[in-house]
Amino acid sequence: MKDAKLLTKQEAALELEFIAREMAKSDVAYYQNDDPYLTDAEYDALKLRNEQIEKRFPDLVREDSPSKKIGAPVQSDFKKVEHKVPMLSLADIFSVDQLKEFIASIRRFLNIDAPIDFTAEPKMDGLSFSVRYENGHLVKAATRGDGKTGEDITENIKTIKGLPHFVEAADFPKIIELRGEVYMSKADFYALNQKNAQENKKTFANPRNAAAGSLRQLDANITKERNLSLLVYTWGEVSEILWDSQTRFLEKVKQWGFPVNPYNKICHNQDEIIKSYETLCSARADLAYDIDGIVYKVDRLDLQQRLGFLTRTPRWAVAHKFPAEKAITKINNIRIQVGRTGALTPVADLEPINVGGVMVSHATLHNEDEIKRKDIRIGDYVVVQRAGDVIPQVLSVVEEKRAKEAEEFVFPSVCPECGAHAIREQDEAVRRCTGGLSCPAQAIERLKHFVSREAFNIEGLGAKIIEDFYGEGIIKRPDDIFTLESRNGGDDLFSNACGLHLENRAGWGGKSVQNLFASINDKRKITLARFIYALGIRQVGSATALLIAKNYGSFDAFAEKMKAGDVEKLLGIDGIGEAMTADIVAFFKEAHNLEVVENLRKYVQIEDYVDNTKTDSPLWGKTVVFTGTLSSLTRAEAKAKALSMGAKVAGSVSAHTDFVVMGQDAGSKAKKAGELGVKILSEEEFLSFI
Ligand code: IVH
Repeated sequence: MKDAKLLTKQEAALELEFIAREMAKSDVAYYQNDDPYLTDAEYDALKLRNEQIEKRFPDLVREDSPSKKIGAPVQSDFKKVEHKVPMLSLADIFSVDQLKEFIASIRRFLNIDAPIDFTAEPKMDGLSFSVRYENGHLVKAATRGDGKTGEDITENIKTIKGLPHFVEAADFPKIIELRGEVYMSKADFYALNQKNAQENKKTFANPRNAAAGSLRQLDANITKERNLSLLVYTWGEVSEILWDSQTRFLEKVKQWGFPVNPYNKICHNQDEIIKSYETLCSARADLAYDIDGIVYKVDRLDLQQRLGFLTRTPRWAVAHKFPAEKAITKINNIRIQVGRTGALTPVADLEPINVGGVMVSHATLHNEDEIKRKDIRIGDYVVVQRAGDVIPQVLSVVEEKRAKEAEEFVFPSVCPECGAHAIREQDEAVRRCTGGLSCPAQAIERLKHFVSREAFNIEGLGAKIIEDFYGEGIIKRPDDIFTLESRNGGDDLFSNACGLHLENRAGWGGKSVQNLFASINDKRKITLARFIYALGIRQVGSATALLIAKNYGSFDAFAEKMKAGDVEKLLGIDGIGEAMTADIVAFFKEAHNLEVVENLRKYVQIEDYVDNTKTDSPLWGKTVVFTGTLSSLTRAEAKAKALSMGAKVAGSVSAHTDFVVMGQDAGSKAKKAGELGVKILSEEEFLSFI
């Protein structure tokens, strides 16, 4: 790239246009869709380049320049909230030299020679929020949005543990907006992604996106299911300020019962500030959550006031970003992993390398197109990065270091585990093994799935044991699990034939064998939803399994229809589409699957679906009609909610209607309800029901 100093004016204009476009695209992907398009490092590099060019050609600064914007405008699905005090951003710095210059510039501005106190606070990599209290009560919460207008996330934020809904303290201001960051711990992020992957749902690139995606849910129940955390670090509108420094503010907030970061520090001079950076930089990898830098703030409020603000950032604070966690290492091998549904996933085995404090020895290469796009070859040196601190990714190949003999990687067209053809269906990025259960990898992964937490949840059958048992022919298929005890040690021919004496295995004893049998026997009764999920039908995650259970009630009812290819009811279920239906029918066409299912039915009792929640609901058995536009949820969502609570939803009002839910601009149905004396519910009343 040409040095910014050497650009002609025309080149500069073109580049500014390019950067504005790229960053706008990235902002939408990041802030609205919670799905980043540029890496943090790429984003920061563009931002810096933009700044350098604008500094040289101030008259070229565009209206839509990234330097004038914060975040992205909010989407329409959420109610909007105006921030009376704007939610600002921070200027970034990337080096200790810049940090020294920042401190010096503040001294110059204030004309103070003596050292100035700064707070050093970990820069949480989450999503900022503002929560408003009136007379001690939490009344409203919002995201930052574009800094002026955010999204109403009141109900969502209330589900986060540790946030007081009411504060009684005598010194709690009558009106106060507390601001901070919502985040997800690394552990919760892993767990969520694992669960979503199992259910064929969207996985998140990093904890920050997972936090944003979890918080910005129209249905706050989803937010509640995700483990989110939050910390407070500043304030917005406030009726009276009872503190004279950031440190005292943080103390107060803590006394009022809000979580604040225990790593916040006060630094009295430049050396302490630099020390705080070094300490946090090395502690970073061990923290339970992601941070992407340190925020330094002038501690005294009177000095903050004198320093004031630039257009979108305060002059009294700065964000010192950590260097991107990248490293260069060699790809020793490219392996193909075969998953439960036969998907072939390429994985790079790397020469182990320390990336920002964590040893990385492999990285996913996603799929065959990704390898082609980046032209990744065995033996190549590549730039690896831990995205959002966690999943190692291969960013690019260092072409200068490529060996002459390095050959293009040829993605196999047969399964490396069983030799069956591996094919790619149209519009699919994934190549799949067609070997089905005769492929050991698929069979083993299916067994692992069968015993997993949300399926049969059998303790004592970990991955290693499943692999060993499969290899030795002890457990080949799910139904074998339930005959294990009867085959062990007894005198029948079968057990003698395979010499099954589990208690004699190395590292095992009578006790561990008894424990294993006990945990298997404990699962001889299972709910319908778990059973369907355990079958491992492609695309059928636990949420889909529950939908099927709800709609069919019993396994017989479901299996009969599937065997007959009768999918009418299945297709009518909101959330089940044609592709999934095709996979379900295909499962029931396969003789092997039917045999396993039939055997399992001999050993386990599948409980019919019972819905305990429905019968207690105020909508149970009632007929509901919707009219007009609802403001907080779509008609389809409202209908689904009502159905899930046991209501019948009708299209027109009659004497049989129990409730009419009236949104805005309701027409003739509301009138008719009035005439017939049918109870009309406002949107709020309906929401309180559900
Ligand atoms: S103070 C006017 N303190 O970083 C200053 N921000 O790049 C407002 N952030 O929008 C922000 N940790 O989302 C502040 N301890 C901290 C922070 C922090 C993370 C985020 C916040 C802000 C962004 C600016």
